[in-house]
Amino acid sequence: MNAIEISRICKTFKGKRGARVEAVKDLSLVIKQGEIFGFLGPNGAGKSTTIKLLMGLVRPTGGSASIMGHDVGSHLSRKHVGYLPENPAFYDYLSAEEYLIFIGKTFGMKEPALKEKAEKVLRLLDLWEARKRRMREYSKGMVQRLGLAQVLIHDPDVYILDEPMSGLDPIGRALVKGIILDLKSQGKCVFFSTHITSDVETVCDRVGIVLKGVLQSVERVESIMTEGITGYHVRIKDKGADEDREEYAAKDEISEVVGRAQAAGSEITLIEPKRKNLEEFFLDIVKRKDAR
Ligand SMILES: Nc1ncnc2c1ncn2[C@@H]1O[C@H](COP(=O)(O)OP(=O)(O)O)[C@@H](O)[C@H]1O
Ligand SMILES: [Mg+2]
Repeated sequence: MNAIEISRICKTFKGKRGARVEAVKDLSLVIKQGEIFGFLGPNGAGKSTTIKLLMGLVRPTGGSASIMGHDVGSHLSRKHVGYLPENPAFYDYLSAEEYLIFIGKTFGMKEPALKEKAEKVLRLLDLWEARKRRMREYSKGMVQRLGLAQVLIHDPDVYILDEPMSGLDPIGRALVKGIILDLKSQGKCVFFSTHITSDVETVCDRVGIVLKGVLQSVERVESIMTEGITGYHVRIKDKGADEDREEYAAKDEISEVVGRAQAAGSEITLIEPKRKNLEEFFLDIVKRKDAR
């Protein structure tokens, strides 16, 4: 069974005075269990709308979607999902601990397992010290981390996270990336949106690039990183030379450059691929789209 299936989903918002916004256009996508999928696009691309469609918070104007085989919006589909909204807001008169216990109970969890799990996630997200404080005293980063804690509490199969790294400092970002990789090692599915390419590079199996409501491209991150190699920087230490020299070899010249150096008795001290990174790949797609 696939974790997430989206079939030709559309959402058109009707604004004031008959204005229409096509936020999501004919989007189809299948995401497997155990997969980490990055949903990458600039602001206003339709990421949050797609995520709200998956959570049944917005009704599609066309198409359909399911999570773990259950139609989105159904009670069963939600049971399988941990959802982090774009701007999480909680009952701020509660403490983090009270809130997590409350959320766990709504998912049918019981003490003492719930208490134990709450402690585990509070510690994981570095909220243990602050667990008794009311959330209204929390910083933005703490609220964001609590958002992730409430996603993890009931141990769902699928994680749908809207910009999980936003508002976090580098330590918080690294923490979230670590959590995502840990979920992957447990065979869970994570679908998250971001507008930052480096968030995708380090954790995702695949990336989907969305622009103006249209899914432009779905690629394996690994293939972008390897097929994107354009050439190599080669560092060579010639016989008797004091210092290394550097040579650039285009993709199809590398064996020639290495062969020549070896034939001359030189030592190769470094070969570094020069590749198009995800950022460039993303910007190419944006440029192509604008040129159309
Ligand atoms: N409730 C709404 N009513 C009208 N337009 C909306 C609504 N929600 C989102 N939009 C519009 O849909 C487009 C996509 O928004 P969104 O999905 O929030 O993008 P992203 O999350 O990628 O930044 C934007 O043009 C936005 O203004
Ligand atoms: Mg958004």
